[in-house]
Amino acid sequence: MNNVYPSSHPLVGAKLSLLRNVKTDSKKFRELIREIAAMLAYEATMDLAVGQIDIQTPLMMTKGITVLERIGLVPILRSGLGMVEGFWELMPGAEVWHIGLYRDEKTLKPVSYYNRLPIEPTVSVCLVLDPMLATGGSAVATVDILKRWGVTKIKFVGILAAPEGIERLHSAHPDVSIHLAAIDECLNEHGYILPGLGDAGDRQFGT
Ligand code: URA
Repeated sequence: MNNVYPSSHPLVGAKLSLLRNVKTDSKKFRELIREIAAMLAYEATMDLAVGQIDIQTPLMMTKGITVLERIGLVPILRSGLGMVEGFWELMPGAEVWHIGLYRDEKTLKPVSYYNRLPIEPTVSVCLVLDPMLATGGSAVATVDILKRWGVTKIKFVGILAAPEGIERLHSAHPDVSIHLAAIDECLNEHGYILPGLGDAGDRQFGT
């Protein structure tokens, strides 16, 4: 499938293995989420628009580049929160816009419970952050919200994905690139990714 980018970086793979381990405690789990997020941030931002600038080094004038995009990080509450710090290490000026969604038990559709986006978009590119792309429902709903807001350049960054979630996000929004640490096997009957890492929210927040 095009526009889907699982990382092939050995450090991502090694950190992901630690993250999956049931014996990894919450403190270490949060550190690993932050570190993997920073590495995925590097991979997901390869195509940011840049402009040329003049720089005075101690020795002479030279040319350099500056990133032209205004970046919005959009963590899906609550487990996307832990990825923000890793992204901020590389792009400290990025704005953070939180989106909260829950799944209606009757319709099974995502319902937005937190969205404070201003009327006009303030960023040119949005990076949607959610460690787990499981059914894909929240990711699709978040991208719907961002497109309605007026942002056209959107990327999804997650740690693990089930093929079902990738398929759903890709068919709803083929223009959205999907950046991942790894693609897992399937979902179980409770919507958990297998082999997965368990509940990413509970493991980060110790709940
Ligand atoms: N959300 C999680 O936290 N874990 C899963 O496996 C699926 C969704």
